[in-house]
Amino acid sequence: MCGIVGYLGKRNAYPVLIKGLKRLEYRGYDSAGVALLTDEHKLNVYKAKGKVADLEAYASDKDISGTVGIAHTRWATHGEPNTANAHPHMSSSGSLAMIHNGIIENYSVLKKQLIEKGVEFKSSTDTEVLIQLIDYIKTTSKVDLLTAVRSALRSVIGAYAIAILDKDNPDEIIAARKSSPLVVGIGEEEFFIGSDASPIIEYTNKVVYLDDEDIVVLNRNKEPQYVDFDNTKVDHDVTEVDLNLAQIEKGGYPHFMLKEIYEQPDCLKDCMRGRINVEANNVTLSAIIDNRKHLINPRRIIIVACGTSWHAGLIGKQLIEDFCQIPVEVEYASEFRYSNPVINNQDVVIAISQSGETADTLAAIELAKSKGAFIYGICNAIGSSIARATHTGSYIHVGPEIGVASTKAFTGQVTVLTMLALALGKERGTVDQQRYTTVISALENIPSLMLQLLEQGDMIRDISRVFTYAHNFLYLGRGYNYPVALEGALKLKEISYIHAEGYPAAEMKHGPIALIDEEMPVVVIATQNELHDKVLSNIQEIKARHARVIAIISKGDETVKKLADATIELPETEKCLEPLLASIPLQMLAYYVAIAKGKDVDQPRNLAKSVTVE
Ligand code: G6P
Repeated sequence: MCGIVGYLGKRNAYPVLIKGLKRLEYRGYDSAGVALLTDEHKLNVYKAKGKVADLEAYASDKDISGTVGIAHTRWATHGEPNTANAHPHMSSSGSLAMIHNGIIENYSVLKKQLIEKGVEFKSSTDTEVLIQLIDYIKTTSKVDLLTAVRSALRSVIGAYAIAILDKDNPDEIIAARKSSPLVVGIGEEEFFIGSDASPIIEYTNKVVYLDDEDIVVLNRNKEPQYVDFDNTKVDHDVTEVDLNLAQIEKGGYPHFMLKEIYEQPDCLKDCMRGRINVEANNVTLSAIIDNRKHLINPRRIIIVACGTSWHAGLIGKQLIEDFCQIPVEVEYASEFRYSNPVINNQDVVIAISQSGETADTLAAIELAKSKGAFIYGICNAIGSSIARATHTGSYIHVGPEIGVASTKAFTGQVTVLTMLALALGKERGTVDQQRYTTVISALENIPSLMLQLLEQGDMIRDISRVFTYAHNFLYLGRGYNYPVALEGALKLKEISYIHAEGYPAAEMKHGPIALIDEEMPVVVIATQNELHDKVLSNIQEIKARHARVIAIISKGDETVKKLADATIELPETEKCLEPLLASIPLQMLAYYVAIAKGKDVDQPRNLAKSVTVE
């Protein structure tokens, strides 16, 4: 949450910073700001409530010169989203400006101490407390900025990625991180910083991922200097990022979300590349080969995740239990981290996270690690904190996901979980050879079936328009499709602000049925399987209460077609792979309902893509 970007070099900093903020806007978008140091050593700070475009409009008649600057797009934690609380924050002396992503948990104690010493505050943010503290130490102890930063950070509890500009030292940016991501970009006589690599890759593919409690000093005339809080030098390798601009731009689509929905066939091919070999009848995940002794025979597996990734985890549980006969529990990372789990070194924890930065998931990993569990990560963001905190893992390789509502990451996660269940099941001898073969070739065929489904986009758009009147939606599914119902409901509420609930279809009669009337559409995933007749009865019960039914059905299912008000047909596949197909029309349904209601699908209110705070 919150995006930070910085530039120091020969170019005008402002355009680089604004472009960078736009790339990071998925991380938060309730206010934005920029600080620039001009050649005349003037520190200009501009801030605006709202999006980066509002900041641009505000700064359009201002002095935006300068070759060094820092900028921020905010997702409010402390203090309402207004201009005063927007970043950058300045110290009272006016010489330091700082941007911050994270939370300073002990800010109120520090603030009280500073107020007692006569420091005046302009905002109600935790960030201002930190920059005032740094300036207070710098001026009262007469030390340089780096020493003051090190000293201040030692007294701070919380999570942060920060970057600081000093009016008296216009050739330098100092940045630091703890539990919030920070990447340094190394160009030709220029440096960049970013919450991720997306604001940087246009200029250089050479990056350094900072570790917790690292401080970096970027100076125009020197190599970057990395130190820890005790001023001990830290060595960092420069990594080459494999990202291109097309991957993070809209490519002709009106929204990132739609682009990402349509990208899924290609993304899943990338996800499976080198891992699935139909001719050789094999699924290979290097993490399993390399860590056989930890993974082959665990007492049980615990999956920890949040949001959409948790829904993928629910599907993962069914896959792993089905193919591997290992008991699996799925926990919300936010609950797990504060529980007292019975867990030891015979357990495997699978942490699923698109961003690889979710604070609760990271904390859940640390707890499981402290109890001796072996940790397997399933992440999208390469080099992210979670990817680095785990013992091993498999990337989903679906490319950057920018739309706040997760789409391609979900299907990528489910694909990796399917491959994991197949590979582990084979190693353990718990999967029938014939089934293994059938599922592998069906999985490889999923991208082409997805393409067929995506061709129904216009039809799904037309269906969606009919349902914009609703204030509530119910989503029902069973077995492998129960988590799909949960995910479909989450998609709708995230971007259209329509209340939606997902339920296992048979549970409908234990509560939700009381809500059903002609005003409440019900989405039913009613594909052909052994429970089809039972779901059919649910549809009849819904129709008897005059609600409209949108049914996701197997191709050619005339029985449900006659009952439902709208149907979307899925191509035939293995039952365990249906979530990969059934989720596509539900993503599109949510997208088109939100569009018809005029909502901002890529940046829905109050949400952020990367939740780096609790
Ligand atoms: C936020 C995002 C969701 C995401 C969840 C978990 O709530 O808006 O789309 O599913 O965080 O994020 P992660 O990056 O850990 O998968």
